[in-house]
Amino acid sequence: MKHVYAALLCAAFAAPVSAQEIKIGYALAEDSHYGAGAKAFEESLKESLGEQFTFRHFPSSGLGGEREVLEGLQLGTVEMTIASDGTLTNFVPEVGVLGIPFLLRDKDHARKVLDGEIGEEMLAKFEDAGLHALAWGEQGFRHITSNRGAIQAPADLDGLKIRTMENPVHIEAFRALGAAPTPMAWPEVIGALQQGAIDGQENPLSVIVSAKLNEVQEYLTLDGHVYSSTIILVSPSLWGQLDDTQKAAFEKAADDAVVAMRAFVDEVDASGVEAMKAAGMEVNELTPEQKAAFRDALAEPYKAYEAQFGADLMARIQAVE
Ligand code: PAF
Repeated sequence: MKHVYAALLCAAFAAPVSAQEIKIGYALAEDSHYGAGAKAFEESLKESLGEQFTFRHFPSSGLGGEREVLEGLQLGTVEMTIASDGTLTNFVPEVGVLGIPFLLRDKDHARKVLDGEIGEEMLAKFEDAGLHALAWGEQGFRHITSNRGAIQAPADLDGLKIRTMENPVHIEAFRALGAAPTPMAWPEVIGALQQGAIDGQENPLSVIVSAKLNEVQEYLTLDGHVYSSTIILVSPSLWGQLDDTQKAAFEKAADDAVVAMRAFVDEVDASGVEAMKAAGMEVNELTPEQKAAFRDALAEPYKAYEAQFGADLMARIQAVE
């Protein structure tokens, strides 16, 4: 680990004049991977710095959608968040490269990319966007849920009104596959599914299970079309007030939060399918051949992605072993 943790032990015993409150907003419930990361962060910080900071959690989009919360960080009205790469693409467009379908092969590959040079380079770009990014968290590989039937081939997506994140890379991919992508902020999604305004959505098992999407969706297709990351961020105004010992404690807490999020995702990836079947969802998993048909149908968008992000960067990502 690149961080220096040494001075933290002493800092834990330094009595604060008064504790500073950190408002942390995130999109999902406290018993989700977001909640697990936020709690691990809080506990780690307490271990390092004692009572210097207190946390007020705003789960389930309690402070608004991810975009609004990130704008709050920029303004200094919210101190902390964990937000998905889909939303963050609108703040640092380069992050969009990670949302290219089928670019990241599996969780191991994704974690190595994010923990390595490429991940570090991207986190650094957030300073210019008025945000301070601490570390990459995780959601897992995204799968399609729908009320219109199982998805076996690109033709099954024809005209499907599928909610996507507000991520141009995803919108372009679903359009090329013949669907009718409908970008929408997460807080509106469950209502839109209930009312039939959209037929489906796509998210990792971590989200499908914790948001109980089985209550509003009948079919789950395990296609793993794209890896979904998150970033743990703090407001530049909070970051600017911290001394070096506190900064090291925040960085360690972010590392601990990542460990907790990844463990949560691994657990739900192992147990989530059975849980969703038991809850009544019809689940199908694409074979490697079926998956290849989706990849092949994305040849045109891939040319556009290369033009936008650079074939070199995409090759660097693919070369990470
Ligand atoms: O689909 C999304 O918008 C995201 O995956 C979610 C559920 C808000 C978690 O960041």
